[in-house]
Amino acid sequence: LTSGCDTRARIILRLLSPAPAMNPNLALLQPYPFQKLSALFKGITPSPAHSPVSLSIGEPKHAAPAFIQQVLKDNLSGLARYPATAGSSELRRSIGDWLIRRHHLEHLNADSQVVPVNGSREALFAFAQCVVDATRPDALVAMPNPFYQIYEGAALLAGAQPRFLNLEAHANFRMNFAQLTHEEWQRTQLLYVCSPGNPTGAVMNLEDWRALFAHAEKYDLVIASDECYSEIYFDEANPPLGGLQAAQLLGRKDYRRVVAFGSLSKRSNVPGMRSGFVAGDAAILERFLLYRTYHGCAMNPAVQMASEAAWRDEAHVVENRRAYRAKFEAAIQTLGSVTQVSMPDAAFYLWLRTPIDDCEFARQLHQRYNVTVLPGSYLAREAHGANPGARFVRAALVAEFDECMEAIKRLKQFFQEMHK
Ligand SMILES: Cc1ncc(COP(=O)(O)O)c(C=O)c1O
Repeated sequence: LTSGCDTRARIILRLLSPAPAMNPNLALLQPYPFQKLSALFKGITPSPAHSPVSLSIGEPKHAAPAFIQQVLKDNLSGLARYPATAGSSELRRSIGDWLIRRHHLEHLNADSQVVPVNGSREALFAFAQCVVDATRPDALVAMPNPFYQIYEGAALLAGAQPRFLNLEAHANFRMNFAQLTHEEWQRTQLLYVCSPGNPTGAVMNLEDWRALFAHAEKYDLVIASDECYSEIYFDEANPPLGGLQAAQLLGRKDYRRVVAFGSLSKRSNVPGMRSGFVAGDAAILERFLLYRTYHGCAMNPAVQMASEAAWRDEAHVVENRRAYRAKFEAAIQTLGSVTQVSMPDAAFYLWLRTPIDDCEFARQLHQRYNVTVLPGSYLAREAHGANPGARFVRAALVAEFDECMEAIKRLKQFFQEMHK
């Protein structure tokens, strides 16, 4: 009855206020994976014997460092002025110094090769609007599959079509550039890469970058390198290779054609602060800055001050990694006896194979154990004859140790029951 009333109400509303003609590309946007998940769980009563544990959302849950909160509070007087879109020179320098230290860069000009952004998400989206030449009706934007859904939405709203490069387990979830034809590469204007990858955790190596740069040169395209998980890794002596570092190692010291996207959200547990950066090719960033000036996305001055302090401190990041490492080691030890699982290269996800359909797995796990994971097929699209996310689920080990381990124990039990 209720749903009948809702439908009638919606029809009446539409008759009263017909939507004006709007950007038709909006209709191409897919529902977000979490909307699909609520639909999947509709009508299910999760086991009341178990407390709810969510491993589905990739939102950091460790505490935001007190010193970052303090700097934010101490700088609220900054709200009395308009900030510059390029950010303060102090913030650009703090980001630039961090990039030089972290990636052993010989040179990076903080004034022309770094721009602060309000989290990597908005920048990843805006970048496509700036790079894609919408006057070319056949424009393509290439991206990994599975992937972070913003890349797809950004491509569609920029008037381009997305093209997917499937990440396969047998290839260690590496990009296979041969999946696009010569003709498709010719139409490709922008290519997103995500390393460390969400959801697979795979990190691109120097050979992957060499191949990618060769494609970028041959086909005149721009690389957007999403590195928002770069600081979540498990071996202190072996941090993930970044796009700018790879460029330098391959003799591309001007970082031509590549822009890296970094973030404090995961590194410093401040997803609500909305703070990140773009860095790389000065000619591209000059135009992106122009775009951003019109878009109106300058960073709040207090957030700029707090970000500057966060990029200058590494101790809290080392401690954060220690907490993730403890969870991943324990989780892999627990699950290793019941399913094929190994330490990801980096990031905070377990990308687990499922013995049954991934949606059914997620549904039953929710119902019987009150644990939420995200079906892999929701994070990928059908391409090259398959959905490469099918038969996987993504479990984000973001909660504190005890809560994560409680969920992992239930997962183990669920796998055991499935094998019976
Ligand atoms: C792959 C990937 N890129 C970018 C982001 C955006 O992060 P933020 O906007 O907080 O920097 C996320 C967030 O979950 C992500 O998973």
